[in-house]
Amino acid sequence: MSEPLDIEVLVERAKEAIAAAISTEDIRHVAASVAGKKSPLAQASRSLGSLEPERRKVLGQKLHDARGTIDELIERRRTEIKFEELAQEMAEAAIDLTEFIPGSIPAPASRGHLHLVSQTQSALEDVFVGMGFEVAEGPEIETDWFNFGALNIPPAHPARGMWDTFYLNLGEPETTLLRTHTSPVQIHLMEEAVVDGRLPIHAVMPGRCYRRDTPDARHLPVFHQIEGLVVDKGITFADLAGTIEVFTAAYFGPDIHSRLRPAYFPFTEPSAEFEITCTICLGEGCQTCSQTGWIELGGCGMVDPAVFGAVGIDPGEWTGFAFGFGVDRCAQMRHQIADMRALIENDIRFLRQF
Ligand code: FA5
Repeated sequence: MSEPLDIEVLVERAKEAIAAAISTEDIRHVAASVAGKKSPLAQASRSLGSLEPERRKVLGQKLHDARGTIDELIERRRTEIKFEELAQEMAEAAIDLTEFIPGSIPAPASRGHLHLVSQTQSALEDVFVGMGFEVAEGPEIETDWFNFGALNIPPAHPARGMWDTFYLNLGEPETTLLRTHTSPVQIHLMEEAVVDGRLPIHAVMPGRCYRRDTPDARHLPVFHQIEGLVVDKGITFADLAGTIEVFTAAYFGPDIHSRLRPAYFPFTEPSAEFEITCTICLGEGCQTCSQTGWIELGGCGMVDPAVFGAVGIDPGEWTGFAFGFGVDRCAQMRHQIADMRALIENDIRFLRQF
């Protein structure tokens, strides 16, 4: 092999090897084999010393040019490889934004549901509708007349005190307040029925009530009641007791018993307190029922003739019964919630259980 051909072949082979390198690792190996200390190029350079000066000069120049060409080719390929590898890395790390187009989000937003108190109110309405009652509603802001006066609650009654009632406006032109119970809706219904000639009445009236009660295991300052009113001919206390008995069994189940205890309400006569077995301790006595084994759900009684008089119904012709009890307390008893305050704390872990 003549020398010029040797060097050209050397450069040609180096070119091929450099072009075939496809990774940083490859180009490092190729660079070592075609231009490193043990490469044919380096060996040829080292053998220059044994040549005569003239040949050494010519061959030395050729080797120098060959090394320049090879070094440049290695550098160029090294840069190309670096870009190729970077491009590949970017392609692998790329995020497919189409995955986030609405409709293909893997976890669909979870759906809420009605609050336990709203569910309880609907369930109670269902029970009474099943017994032939209609559902009616009344305002939450009442006048003194509807909340107290027409219900035969005398001016000196403690319920009228500033410590029990949230007053909005005292005196002129009219005293207004946040209703303390749903009983004023009885008055609205009876007044309307008299005007429209729509007696008899068989209705339940659910809604929000307000009292200046300190929150505790059984009381909230904003709570819910459901009122019941029947005005018809020949209604007796037995109808009232039977209605409450049927309701208790239908809503709480056959294991929960009810009892009526004599009580006093100015707008019913006779009056009773309606209690059920404490569902937390099943009658054993616990903190929720103040160790009595019973929980008061509400009050009831026969409509007082003075109330009929206030709305213009003839008590000689019509008789009736009324009841009113706590919706929140029903929810509490039905689901064995030891502390009623859990209903207003808005802890989603509690609420999503129902
Ligand atoms: C009344 O409110 C009468 N209007 C009930 C009535 C209606 C009697 C018709 C006769 C005829 P009382 O204040 O006892 O009564 O309340 C009735 C029920 O409402 C209570 O037994 C309880 O279940 C619920 N309740 C009263 N106050 C609160 C409160 N602060 N938080 C939660 N529930 C309450």
